[in-house]
Amino acid sequence: MATHSTEHRRSPYLSSRLQGFGTTIFAEMSALAVATGSVNLGQGFPDTDGPSEVLEAAGAAIRSGHNQYPPGRGVPELLRAVAHHQAHWYGLDLDPDREILITAGATEAVAAAMLALCEVGDEVVMFEPYYDSYGACVAMAGAGRRVVTLRPPDWSFDPGALAAAITPRTRLVLLNTPHNPTGKVFGRDELECIASLCVERDLVAVTDEVYEHLVFEGEHVPLATLPGMRERTLSISSAGKTFSVTGWKIGWVSGPEPLVDAVRTAKQFLTYVNGAPLQPAVAAGLGLADGMLRALADDLRAKRDLLSDGLATLGLEVFRPAATYFVMTDIRALGYDDGISFCRDLPGRCGVVAIPAVVFYDDKAAGRSLVRWAFCKQDEALHEALRRLDGLHP
Ligand SMILES: Cc1ncc(COP(=O)(O)O)c(C=O)c1O
Repeated sequence: MATHSTEHRRSPYLSSRLQGFGTTIFAEMSALAVATGSVNLGQGFPDTDGPSEVLEAAGAAIRSGHNQYPPGRGVPELLRAVAHHQAHWYGLDLDPDREILITAGATEAVAAAMLALCEVGDEVVMFEPYYDSYGACVAMAGAGRRVVTLRPPDWSFDPGALAAAITPRTRLVLLNTPHNPTGKVFGRDELECIASLCVERDLVAVTDEVYEHLVFEGEHVPLATLPGMRERTLSISSAGKTFSVTGWKIGWVSGPEPLVDAVRTAKQFLTYVNGAPLQPAVAAGLGLADGMLRALADDLRAKRDLLSDGLATLGLEVFRPAATYFVMTDIRALGYDDGISFCRDLPGRCGVVAIPAVVFYDDKAAGRSLVRWAFCKQDEALHEALRRLDGLHP
């Protein structure tokens, strides 16, 4: 995970490409949570299990012998389920035998896409704050990143800055919507702006849509559905958030055959295949009624409101998210101007852990006073966190 902002020990063995990446702040906050008995609102995973149908299907798959290497592209029922999902939710027509690949989570999909599509010296355009694996994956591919900043309160971007970030070296645009850590759902007008630049400059788009079903307001629109984008977009998603099984690491890539084939070549030498018994279980999940997925979003919306309202009552500036697991806040009203100091103090002061959002930024000034809180936790944990935070009033 990117930790440009925090001091940490360097391994003399770490390649120069990965200098500046490491696990420091997340590891530090998790260790602090354990040491202080804190409520951990730092990490983005739910503390309840997903749908029983999905869990039981995994158990049944293990018991019925789905325990050896699955086919390289993925098990046929999951490939078909992903194709059906894309058609059903978004009207995207995909050939399950040629235009879909199952990966070890969205994380491997992003890594394999960068390794497959970028030449050394190419550039990748992305928005910040950005999910922490992006910087490292681009670096591992030997590429560089050009970053466009999303600004609160609505996390909008300057279209001129996006156009200016695209250079003759730009290979692709890496877009995350719905967006971690801001909870932004990119609007159609914003997507049209991105799409028109991709078409005009002949760029590939790689989209990370892992929060596609955790939307509370607005509508998730896959970039691939915009005119001219189907043929140049690799869409990535995964089961982790949709079915509350973040430890399973079953993801998928879909898009035009040449792009998917390129990613498949990289994946072949990363993990080759993954999750044989989990793949049919995720296929079963994708076959669940739409209402099951909407119920999860409804449940999370209530948690978002619970935590956002509580944090606002404490005096924090809250940027209520339209989607995802996370709410962003500005902590300056509490007498801090630095999220790292705030998050380091918080476990000792109150017994709560959050993440300083500056770790998701290249522009440290833009992220300095922002803190991310996860609300994908049981209501009791959220109530307890707010009770503990009550002492924070300035
Ligand atoms: C934006 C984003 N992409 C990808 C992932 C990881 O997905 P997976 O667990 O499927 O690798 C996460 C998890 O937090 C995320 O927030």
